[in-house]
Amino acid sequence: MALSFQIITALLFITVVTVSSSPPGGFTMDLIHRRSNSSSSTGRRSNTYDQLRSSPYADVIYDTTSEVYLMKLQIGTPPVEIEALIDTGSDVIWTQCLPCLNCYDQRNPIFDPSKSSTYEAETYCDNTPDHSCAYDLVYGDQSYSIGKLATETVTIKSTSGQSYVMPKTIIGCSHNSSGNVRSFSGIVGLNLGSLSLVSQMGIGEISYCFSPEERSSKLHFGSNAIVSGEGTVSTPMFIDKEKPWFYNLNLDAVSVEKTRIETLGTPFHAVDGNMIVDSGTTLTYLPASYCSLVREAVEKVVRAERVTYEDDDSLCYKTDTMDIFPVITMHFSGGADLVLGKSNTYMAFNGDGAICLTIVCGRRAIFGNKAQNNFLVGYDPSSRLVSFKPTSDCGNITIDDHSVSAASLFQFNINFVLFLFVLSLIS
Ligand SMILES: *[C@@H]1O[C@H](CO)[C@@H](O)[C@H](O)[C@H]1NC(C)=O
Ligand SMILES: *[C@@H]1O[C@H](CO)[C@@H](O)[C@H](O)[C@H]1NC(C)=O
Ligand SMILES: *[C@@H]1O[C@H](CO)[C@@H](O)[C@H](O)[C@H]1NC(C)=O
Repeated sequence: MALSFQIITALLFITVVTVSSSPPGGFTMDLIHRRSNSSSSTGRRSNTYDQLRSSPYADVIYDTTSEVYLMKLQIGTPPVEIEALIDTGSDVIWTQCLPCLNCYDQRNPIFDPSKSSTYEAETYCDNTPDHSCAYDLVYGDQSYSIGKLATETVTIKSTSGQSYVMPKTIIGCSHNSSGNVRSFSGIVGLNLGSLSLVSQMGIGEISYCFSPEERSSKLHFGSNAIVSGEGTVSTPMFIDKEKPWFYNLNLDAVSVEKTRIETLGTPFHAVDGNMIVDSGTTLTYLPASYCSLVREAVEKVVRAERVTYEDDDSLCYKTDTMDIFPVITMHFSGGADLVLGKSNTYMAFNGDGAICLTIVCGRRAIFGNKAQNNFLVGYDPSSRLVSFKPTSDCGNITIDDHSVSAASLFQFNINFVLFLFVLSLIS
């Protein structure tokens, strides 16, 4: 779920990130100082050291109503379990909180900060312009979350069996959130922005495998998130100077069976990133001019009656089989050719005997979660690569338990901090 593009810069930067008069870069440095300061205290250091020996992870579940993937984590003391949308398209971690001005019905109980001994409402206020701690987020689908930033303990699982505890994590306590079809508690932002979970952990690598069925899987952080082995393809992650928090890939072409449709010669063509990878968006979006070329190629192949819907120009056909549809391959730069399965690219729609293309036309290009189903997807900011490994069963992936020493992970952390620092310089 990408943050709405006009509003993200306006709101996020004005409300949250603008620290007195310092540039956004100053903010990133503040965050690092905060972390390094706390890690230099003895308690924190030994804690961090122990935690680095194991890899944190979260259980992933598919939310069939919203068609998004959720991770389980715990917040507060004593810890309360929440289910939050896994969103590589945004940064803030937020959950609905009591008291509600306007909350939607969620499956788990709504978090009550007054019952948590580690919830600190006032600690982060100095970093917001009017010291109000307020944040106001609007996402690309126009959903919103309005509340207060606070610091709180966030706990996730780890491969060592001990919990991975993150004290003083900056989270949003949402008192007014939209979501008429939602049942999850909030959103966990995982992009490169300074408030995202990965930035606050100081661990850049993540990987997940989204199953189209309600099969559980895991979101891995750190050494266990490395995606490698047979069938793995990788593509460069580009950093957009204007929006350095996005995982930006470069799509060179799309093939519909054997017909290869180059972006070259269209306004969509780029060499340094033209499409963001967003785990929080269901469908895949291509900008209109290029999108129509892909649709036309699909239309040439499919022999079935078209179905049209009001207010929705999806390419749909009256049929009960996906066999009549062409195989679609996405060609990302660096030779990463993703041969997508039929269930990645087509889906039954409205339960009325129609099957539609899941690649739709939009204002900008987003690689959504449906297209990523049945791939182990890994993000590695230190090597600036996004990797994809096709798999037939996300619930049954064995990840080599790399025994990475604390020292090498620490080295990695330093690299990541430097990387954030560089990001802050160019932004
Ligand atoms: C950093 O830690 C020291 C002692 O460990 C403490 O006195 C100081 O206030 C901390 N600074 C910040 C900015 O929290
Ligand atoms: C919640 O936020 C929306 C959007 O800003 C606003 O229209 C609405 O009045 C708010 N609701 C409450 C109860 O504050
Ligand atoms: C997982 O995969 C292995 C080997 O590929 C297979 O033997 C095993 O039965 C699978 N387990 C499940 C639960 O599907």
